[in-house]
Parts: sequence; structure tokens; C-alpha cells
Amino acid sequence: MSPPPVRDKAADKLSEAEATAELEYLAGEIARHDGLYYQQSKPEIEDSKYDALRRRNTAIEARFANLVRPDSPTHRIGAPAAVGFAKVRHSVPMLSLGNAFDDGEMAEFIARARRFLKLDEGETVALMVEPKIDGLSASLRYENGVYVRGATRGDGEEGEDVTENLRTVIDLPAKLQDKDIPDVIEVRGEVYMALADFAALNQAREADGEQAFVNPRNAASGGLRQIDTSLTAKRRLRLFAYAWGETSEPITGTYGDFLDRLRKWGFQVNPLAQIFATLEDGLAHYRHIVSMRPDLAYEIDGVVYKVDRLDWQQRLGAAGREPRWAIAYKFAAEQAETVLNKISIQVGRTGSLTPVAELEPVMVGGVTVSRASLHNQDEIERKDIREGDHVIVQRAGDVIPQVVRVVTDKRAAGSQAYEFPRTCPECGSRAAREDGEVATRCTGGLVCPAQAIERLRHFVSRDAFDIEGLGEKQIKAFWLDGSVQSPADIFTLETRDKNAEQPLASQKGWQEKSVSNLFAAIAARRKIPLERLIFALGIRHIGQTTARLLARRYGNFGALRGALRNAVDRESEDYADLVDIDGIGAVAADALVDFHAEDHNADVLNALEAVLNIVPFEAPAATSPVSGKTVVFTGTLTEMSRAEAKARAEALDAKVSGSVSKKTDYVVAGEAAGSKAKKAAELGVTVLSEQEWLDLIGG
Ligand code: IVH
Repeated sequence: MSPPPVRDKAADKLSEAEATAELEYLAGEIARHDGLYYQQSKPEIEDSKYDALRRRNTAIEARFANLVRPDSPTHRIGAPAAVGFAKVRHSVPMLSLGNAFDDGEMAEFIARARRFLKLDEGETVALMVEPKIDGLSASLRYENGVYVRGATRGDGEEGEDVTENLRTVIDLPAKLQDKDIPDVIEVRGEVYMALADFAALNQAREADGEQAFVNPRNAASGGLRQIDTSLTAKRRLRLFAYAWGETSEPITGTYGDFLDRLRKWGFQVNPLAQIFATLEDGLAHYRHIVSMRPDLAYEIDGVVYKVDRLDWQQRLGAAGREPRWAIAYKFAAEQAETVLNKISIQVGRTGSLTPVAELEPVMVGGVTVSRASLHNQDEIERKDIREGDHVIVQRAGDVIPQVVRVVTDKRAAGSQAYEFPRTCPECGSRAAREDGEVATRCTGGLVCPAQAIERLRHFVSRDAFDIEGLGEKQIKAFWLDGSVQSPADIFTLETRDKNAEQPLASQKGWQEKSVSNLFAAIAARRKIPLERLIFALGIRHIGQTTARLLARRYGNFGALRGALRNAVDRESEDYADLVDIDGIGAVAADALVDFHAEDHNADVLNALEAVLNIVPFEAPAATSPVSGKTVVFTGTLTEMSRAEAKARAEALDAKVSGSVSKKTDYVVAGEAAGSKAKKAAELGVTVLSEQEWLDLIGG
């Protein structure tokens, strides 16, 4: 077939309509060749032909400046990110949802919201009730009504730039309709695959001898992360819109109003979304959705309830990653019976021995389950789980499958109770339980390969150093061949590889390209925010939230290390300061201090300091008059509940404490304030009335 004549027409001869079509074609074509060249290393055309495409694009854009596309190849300078997709920071985090599993938990959710808002009994809390789509969430940025960027959720703070892939989503409007559109708006929703498309995809894959996908969500998620956009398009992904992120103007009114706007702009909003004035009616809708579930064209895994009034949503805010104004009422877990062949033991990074049930594979809720966590020794004893037993397993949503109980009627004669190992299966060291602990731990510490590998794996994992291309397989191989024994070794790999007899690229499973990608990914993480580094160390009881609190309190790595060294003395001021941090208890404090007191850990940290550029904690700009201040609320507040007062103060970067000391900046005294207000007066701490506090924070 000969190319359409327009393709051969000189740039200065094109009409405006032809130029529009031609720019669209060139944007797609150039992006496709970029992908082939940079990401798949499989160019289809010679460099000169590629250059000609780009020159033609530039020439047409020069003539028709008004037609320059948001995805124009001229906006993309040089190669796209060498490793996977570029990262996108969500300026408004993408939240997740808390779960409820029965009507009682739903009632508690509403009661909590009512208490928080201090609502009178007569006041109605209208709820939007809608299906929870089993897909993956995405954020779509529109500027002046034009789709300019799309990202995955990632960890909620930072996702991947999959703009072009999302453009192929069937329900994604490239341009918003209607007049009433903010200059900037990020629309959020769920990308999913319809069951019919999923069945067709799997049929085609099986016919081609490829492995079928286990569920539509995995197929959708894989589809969105294709390097070749045309492969994404083939998955026929769809989208239900339900939320917003950054906007240039506030969204006001009700959530129902917002869904109406989404519809007008050209999005698909789930047709089962409906508002109810009472929880009772909202729960009836849950049962209606359950009854519709077998007939729906897509998979759902629960029902989402959202407070309809946006001013209330705003006030309720979020606790951690979960909004206080929304909840997912999940469907009951699905169960199945199977045989437990064997109990195996996994050794985690802190040495805990976790028993795992190796099951005869069984389908549960559309997914094949072959392993389930048994948690710990007590759990096995409580349920009297034995190898060879018939067991009932269940899975709910993303939750790890569980063994619910043993079918004792079917137990074989002569079966023996399971004996929990007393030595580590990985290194043979003694395994022991500490007083009051449920976990049995390997005492091998650094000599235990499983612990060492798990620690390294944690170190490079997504919420820690997030080094792409360095997964479990690679870490294990590097550990076993001795090239990475300690975290800092990761950052000297490249230099050592240059002088190696057998450089990585010559080894099995590696190529020039994958090696250079890996080294680029490592180099990109040499600069690391303090809180990520703290979390990456994998100290017991120190999760992401605690790591952030520590980074915030100490600011830089030197200060943190110094304080923790001094805190070995439990009478010291540094120890008192540490446990005084709201959110850090004695258990976490002791784990931190003990970790830092060990010489071999100090060596690891010294080595890391030598190879890293640790970025001190960036305190959010003091945007509020109470940033960094410590506040104590006391007495009865009239304008808001204690919970709301605390949440608002924290949102303004203040620290809320329960007791008054020299370090307190303000005591907010409500009605009938007692001893705390008195103590404040004695210590010379400023005491404010509720109204004075509200005036201070701006109402
Ligand atoms: S609202 C701030 N509505 O469920 C609240 N989420 O488990 C944001 N999801 O991350 C979520 N259907 O990916 C909302 N109708 C719906 C949803 C929905 C599916 C997903 C979403 C979210 C996850 C939380």
C-alpha cells in the first residue's frame, strides 16, 4: 500500500488540517521508534530516516505554532529515562482506603466521622456508595483541558510516568469537554480490563503458547507498563474516574456534584454510584451491588463509601494514607479446601522464622493459591496444623492467603503434631524466642545468609533505595559470588567491575545494556533523602513513618548518629529526647539505640556515609504560624472535637503532645480546663483560649 499523499507533501505545502493529522502521526511514530531504540535496543529504521522524521516534525511545528501537541517529540530532549519509566511526584498524595468487613465496622466508621465533626444527632451524613473497581489507580493531568501527563499510583507519593500508555485507554478523554474546567486538574480513577477483553486476551495468549494472566488486574497492570505503547493499546484498557489530585482552583460542593462534572468532561463514572442519606440505605445498596456482581462486565472487590459533603471531607482529612471520609466495605473472603503438603520455614531480615504452608494448588476467588502464611509457632499450635492435613484456605483481596482451619475429620491416622524448628534452616544457628515475643528468631546475625540477603533486598526495595534492576535474584547472586556483602558494596560495584576479570556483562543473564542500566539506576540513588536511608537500614520496629519522624527530629545523619550513640546511656538527655518524639515508643527507641551500639553496624554506616550523598531532611516550608510548635489541648473544645483539633494542628506541622513541659509552646484551654492549664501558667507557657488558637491558625 502506498503512503497517503499527505505523507510526501512538503511541510510548507500542508493545509492546517493536514498538518494536524501529520503532527499526530509523527508524534506517535517518533515515540514508537524511541521506544524501539532506547528501551528495546531493536531499532527498525536507520538513524538518517529517524532524523528526517524529527526534522519534518520541527518544520511543521515552526509553521503552525498553534498546533504543537502536548506530547510533541520536540518537548522530549534526548533519550527517555534509561531505566523503565521516569518518576512523577504526586503533589497531592494518592491515598488508599481503610477496610470494613461487616456492617458493624461500617457503623463504627460513620460514628467516628460524626464524633470527629462533632455533629448533632439530627444531622444527616449523606454517603456516596459505589463499587470498588479491582484495577489500578492512575492520575491524569489536564492543563487547559488537554491531557498532558499520566502516572501510576506507585507508593502514593511517587509513581511512574506512563503518559503515552494511558493515552490508549479507551475511556480517557484527550481533551475535556464542557466549559467549566480548572486550568489545571489531575483526575484520578481506576484503570481496569473488562472481563470479555480479559478472556479474549488469555485465549490468544494460550493459543500462542504464552502463559495466561491470573486475573484482569494483573493483565491491566502489565499492560500499562509496556514499553511499546501499541501493546498497551491492544489490552483495551478502560477507566472509571472517581477523584482528583492537584487543581488550580478548589473543588467545592458535594462529591456527587464532582462526579457530575466528571461525566460532563467526558469521563466514565460508574453507573452504580448513588447517594444515600442513611447508612441503612447505603448498606442496602451494598447488597444490591453484591447481587449484581456476577453480571458486571468487570471485576470489583468491594463497595466504597464516601462522605458526600466536600467541606466535611476536607475537615476529616486523612490518618496516614487512609482518608477519614471514605472506607472500602470489602466482600467476604472466598474459601476453598486443599491439602497442606509441607510446612517450610522462611527466614526474614530480622532473623524471624516464618512458617509457610506449601499447599496443593487450589483456585480461591479466581486465583490459584499454592502457599499461605502460617505466621508463627503459636498460630500453628492454636490451630493444630500438621503436614498432610486437609485445610480450609481463604483469600480476601490483596491479603496474603490464610489457613483458616484444619478439616480434622480427614486427618490421616498416625499424623504427628508439627514441631517448630529449634535451629535456623538457613545457617544452622540456634533459633530462639525472646520473652513476650511470638516470633522465633535465628541467632546467627551476620553469619546467616538468609538474613543478610533479606536485609539487602529490603535496602534496595521500593520504599527504600528503590534500585530498579536489583531484585531478589540479582541480590542473591551478588551475595553468593561475594561482590555485595554489605549495602555500601552496591555503590562500588561499577568501579570494581571495571577491573574485574569477568565483568558482569560477560556473565550469564547479563548484557551490556542491562549492566549499564543497572549501574545507571544505582548511580541515580547515590543521592538519598535521609528518611529513606533510615528506613532502608531495616532496623526492627523502624518503618517508614518512624524513619520520617527521626529524620524530621534530627535533620541530618550525623546528628542522628551522635544522639543515638549518647542514648546508650538511658539516663541521658539524648535518650529522653528520643522517647519524647511523638510516635516513637520505648521499643522502637531501644531497637535504634541497640542497633547503633553494635560495632559492625557502625562499620556499615561509616561505609555508607563514604559512598552516599545523604540529603538532610527538608522540613516542609514553615507555611503555618505554628510550624514546629508543640501544642497541648486541654478542657472541652466547643468548635471542634479533640480529634479534629489534633488533626488540624498536625496538618499545620505542629506537634501535639499530651503533657505540658518547658518545651510546650502553647496550651489551648477549652472549657473547664484543669491542672494542665495551671501547670502551663506555672511554667510560663502561653495559654490560649480555643478562639485565640483558631485566630492564630487562621480560623
Ligand atoms: S477512592 C482518597 N473509589 O482502591 C480515596 N478508590 O484500596 C481514593 N479503588 O487506591 C480512593 N475503586 O485504587 C476510590 N470507587 C473507588 C475505587 C477506588 C477502586 C481503588 C483505588 C485505591 C484503592 C484503595
